Order: sequence, then C-alpha cells, then structure tokens
Amino acid sequence: MVEPPDTITLRRPDDWHVHLRDGEMLAMVLPFTARRFARAIVMPNLLPPVRTVATAIGYRRRIMAALAAGADFTPLMTCYLTDGTDPQEIARGYRDGAFTAVKLYPARATTNSQFGVTDYDRIMPVLECLTDLGMPLLVHGEVTDPEVDVFDREAVFIERVLGPLRRRLPELRIVLEHITTTQAVDYVSCGDANLAATITAHHLVINRNAIFAGGIQPHLYCLPIAKRDRDRRALRRAATSGNPKFFLGTDSAPHAIPAKEAAVGCAGIFTAPCALEIYTEVFDEEGALDRLEAFAALNGPEFYRLAPNEGRITLQRKPALVPKRIGQASAAVVPFRAGEEVRWRLAE
Ligand code: DOR
Ligand code: ZN
Repeated sequence: MVEPPDTITLRRPDDWHVHLRDGEMLAMVLPFTARRFARAIVMPNLLPPVRTVATAIGYRRRIMAALAAGADFTPLMTCYLTDGTDPQEIARGYRDGAFTAVKLYPARATTNSQFGVTDYDRIMPVLECLTDLGMPLLVHGEVTDPEVDVFDREAVFIERVLGPLRRRLPELRIVLEHITTTQAVDYVSCGDANLAATITAHHLVINRNAIFAGGIQPHLYCLPIAKRDRDRRALRRAATSGNPKFFLGTDSAPHAIPAKEAAVGCAGIFTAPCALEIYTEVFDEEGALDRLEAFAALNGPEFYRLAPNEGRITLQRKPALVPKRIGQASAAVVPFRAGEEVRWRLAE
C-alpha cells in the first residue's frame, strides 16, 4: 500500500464564496483568507448591500487597503440582485471588471437579505442580460415560505425555483452556492455545464446533530443549515469525486460573539482560519488528496473562465490548534473548531 503523503503542494486555491464584511471586522478577518487564497468571490450582503458599480469599486478599494503590504490577493466583486436591479448597471460593471458575478438572495432567506428578490418575473430582464454576457448568477438556494420545513428549504428551492428557471433560461450560467443536501448533489451532477455548485468545509464535517450536541451550539448555526449525515456523506463524495462542477467556497461568515450568543442569534460560521486545512483533512480521510487541487484551484477558475493561479501553497500533516477566539473585545469572533486541533496546517 502507498502511504499517504505528509505534505501536499497545490496551485494556490481560490475561495469562490466568502463574507469579508467591512471596517474593523474586515481588517480582522481578511488576513486569514488572503494568506491561503489567491482570489475570492466577495459576497455583497453589506448594509446597505453592494448594488452598484460605484459601491463595488469603493468596497474593493477598502479591501485592498486592508491587505498587508506584499499580500497577493485579488477580491472578485459581486452585485446584490434586487427586484429593481438595472441590467445596464450589471452589464457595465461586468465589462469594466467591477463585477465578476451577480448574487441572488431570496428576500429574507438569510443575513441582510431583506433587499433580496421577491418576484422572479421582475428579475427576468437581468437574468436575460446575464445569459447574454455569460456572467455567472450565484444563488442562495433556499425558499423562504414559512410553511416549508427549514431542513427542506434547499430541496424545495430546486423543485420550485431553480428547475423552472433553468428550463426558462438553459444558457444562464448558475452556481448553486453552499449546497447541503443529497438532492442538490444529484441535481447539480445531472445538470449540464452551465450549472455548478460550491461546497463549504463545515458542511463536509458537521451534520445537524452537531448543532444540538450537549446543548444549542450557536457557532454551528448557518444558512443553509447543516442537514442529515447522509447529506454530509453525499457532499463528501461530490467534493472528492473530481467532477468539475463542484468547487471550493468556504462561506466563511464572521459575526461578533454577542450577535451569535444571543436570544436571536445570527447565521454564519467563521471558517477562514481553518477552512483550507479542513478541506485537506477531508480529502485525506477520503483517500482523495490527489483530487484536492482540482476542487480547490482548478474547477472554480474553469467555471468562471479565468486562468488558474500560478503560485503554489504547501500544507503539512502536522496538527495545529485553532484559537478559542479571534479579535478583540466586542469585535471578537469564535472560529469554527475553536480550541480544537486540525490535522493539517500551512507550511511556513
Ligand atoms: O450562514 C450564513 N451567513 N448564510 C448566509 O447565507 C449569509 C451569511 C452571513 O452573511 O452571515
Ligand atoms: Zn454566504
């Protein structure tokens, strides 16, 4: 038997879904992402959201200004879609390179989604414009109908919204973000090349039991919420399969401790300090380290029609302790796996 390697060198990966926030929180969380990933698709759900070319350019400047000297990191900006988005603004932003993709939040599906889409007919002109441009639409795939069980919201979204939308606009290029269910894995696997999906690190390692183990665990609450263990196993098979339709998107989503440990806590798991290491751990456990580079550094660029990165990153099989908290005072955040070991770390 061939022993698994103790170090692995990959092309530098990209994070195709991350929340970098703004201000003090941006300064605190950005180094974790920039150290590991060469590029990242930056979510636009600030308050107010990033809805115009001008705000995207301003936000990108603040991200660049927050980078350490010499950091090699490129933020790829997204536009928050509303019922009133002007297709001209999107087309202009895409042609100028201010926007890489458009993000669709169904209204009230998650954090800061109150300006999101309420009427799919009203966004058809934008979706037709994206189709013509070949510009990706990134979808938070959950229905918000309160009658639908929280754990079924992704599967019902595929049935009620995504299926009909794909039939109406088969050439629209869609990324179904942070998939959590067997249904999503099957739906994306069976789709054509215009459909892809991102998979988070946390959904590869926790199921819904973890959210309630020993009492409610607010730091494991995110949306879409983790599902059954059979779903987690389907996600692991998809991620490690080598299928180019699946790629890395951490959905690292920091919230300060008081916003998580509250009577009504925010959704979001802050994985940036250890997500790449956890993906490596998972691929190692699945005997698929030889497929990690495709998932982390090749499949995403291929879908986004960008060149893969030329730089390299090395990970080492050597346990590293994740800090119990990161940041200061009221801005501190509890990272995923806080106070626990991850079995891989970045080489110096
Ligand atoms: O858990 C989540 N947190 N899911 C999202 O869709 C948004 C994110 C956030 O911005 O905190
Ligand atoms: Zn997200």
